[in-house]
Amino acid sequence: MTNSAATKTAVPTACVIGWPIKHSRSPIIHRHWLAELGIEGDYVRHAVEPEQVAAFFAALPDGPFVGCNVTVPHKEAAFAAVDQADAVATALGAVNTIWLENGRRLGSNTDAEGFIANLDQRAPGFDANPGPAIVLGAGGAARAVIWALKERGFAPIHVINRTRDRAEAMAERFGSVVRPAGWEDLPGLLPTASLLVNTTSLGMEGQPPLVIDLAAAPDALLVTDIVYIPLETPLLAAARARGLRTVDGLGMLLHQAVPGFERWFGVRPTVTPELRRLILADMGVVEEGNAA
Ligand code: ATR
Repeated sequence: MTNSAATKTAVPTACVIGWPIKHSRSPIIHRHWLAELGIEGDYVRHAVEPEQVAAFFAALPDGPFVGCNVTVPHKEAAFAAVDQADAVATALGAVNTIWLENGRRLGSNTDAEGFIANLDQRAPGFDANPGPAIVLGAGGAARAVIWALKERGFAPIHVINRTRDRAEAMAERFGSVVRPAGWEDLPGLLPTASLLVNTTSLGMEGQPPLVIDLAAAPDALLVTDIVYIPLETPLLAAARARGLRTVDGLGMLLHQAVPGFERWFGVRPTVTPELRRLILADMGVVEEGNAA
């Protein structure tokens, strides 16, 4: 297969594929960077239903796009389809960013990098003395978070999940640093933890709240949530009321977009307070203070 320039759009155009996809805010992020950097290009949503995803990846080198982001439910299919996956995508078994080189589809997974970059930006030094971490949930998002925490030296990483088998699958994937656990274990683990991450859908708009008694949490505990609608989830509100440091999940969305933009458009963009405000405005949120 060739990467035929003739089939590409007039300006380099990337897309995000998923099913459904109309809720995706990725076009706002990438179009903001294109305008800010004065780059001629575009980024669009592209709905691809599961039955069509294999055909989409097969046609990518000769189609209109210079590459794509991949979101739910296609990340595993993307991993299977690319010609080459990098180390992090291979460790996660999922690809969320694809770019083309000489007609070959190269894939990465930037969710882990996005998670860590958000903490680096909003809680600098959070990993200065990495201790035990607690990860709530064992789905696709948890995989990226666990990989990132392992990279930054957090140990052990207690993975608490309703379905025990999925927590155990994380230990099989990432090794003995991961300790599978159940929700009933949380009160006993909390006093030892330095970081608590919610990767479940609990607390998301339209879902049940995540209610945890944080009274026994250490004062130095950092609490973060990958849910960002609402921006302050019930978990983060409870942590703030308890006087704990918190980081919301919006920055993970912003930072995971950086490597793809750099691959497709050749310039590494920056996650600025202005970009954050732009997405918040789209969510109908006005943030007080000078949050970066
Ligand atoms: P994602 O890829 O976004 O992580 P997922 O794979 O569907 O999505 O995972 C969702 C996570 O939220 C899982 O850990 C799920 O627990 P199960 O593995 O037991 O399903 C968790 N979750 C969702 N709803 C939940 C609920 N009501 N109570 C407890 N955990 C819940």
